[in-house]
Amino acid sequence: MSSGARYGEADYWDKRYSEATTSFDWYFNYHSVVTDLLAKYDRKDIKILNIGCGNSTFAEFLVRDGYKDVTNVDISPVVIKKMEEQYHEMLPTVKWITMDTRQLSFESESFDVVFDKGTLDAILCGSNSFVNAKKMNSEVSRVLKPGGTYLVMTYGDPESRILHFEDPAFDWIVTAKEVKSSDEDRKEASIYHCYFMEKN
Ligand SMILES: C[S@@+](CC[C@H](N)C(=O)[O-])C[C@H]1O[C@@H](n2cnc3c(N)ncnc32)[C@H](O)[C@@H]1O
Repeated sequence: MSSGARYGEADYWDKRYSEATTSFDWYFNYHSVVTDLLAKYDRKDIKILNIGCGNSTFAEFLVRDGYKDVTNVDISPVVIKKMEEQYHEMLPTVKWITMDTRQLSFESESFDVVFDKGTLDAILCGSNSFVNAKKMNSEVSRVLKPGGTYLVMTYGDPESRILHFEDPAFDWIVTAKEVKSSDEDRKEASIYHCYFMEKN
């Protein structure tokens, strides 16, 4: 089995994070696609959920921008423990919870914004990919407040991703946008895709 096919499995991620010594952001670092979305809310006390957070630096930048109510979940207990240890003093309002995004234990309609960068992609690489993607999106739809936004950042083009969001089971207005990763620390700029799902 190639490692790509194992991206949907918790033990793959546990092993990978056990060996990780630094933070790493898939695709691109904290980006204007996020800050532009958040700027539409004219308050900083919105509730943000980051699903499949890994050891990304997003939480640090969100707090630096004034958003303190940030909850991060990941299926890997190893990365959640590491992030909690790394950040509990620096980011005391930020929560780190081991949780499967296909079965979120949050109340319905409890978040203003949900972010995903790379987790739907990981799930789509695993077995039962479409069933698991639907479970994940159903859970996000449930925990999102009406008027809230689910932002998916992915390498997947509209042909491969829109069908997961335009599912009639979800009452979402879907918008797609291409973004460039042009961070100085990346060797080359690459094109990624962002999908904004606004819940009716
Ligand atoms: C490609 S990495 C992206 C990490 C991070 N979001 C980033 O942008 O760097 C995918 C992440 O999804 C997590 N993951 C995979 N399946 C998951 C699931 N069912 N529930 C929660 N997290 C999951 C993995 O542990 C991993 O941290």
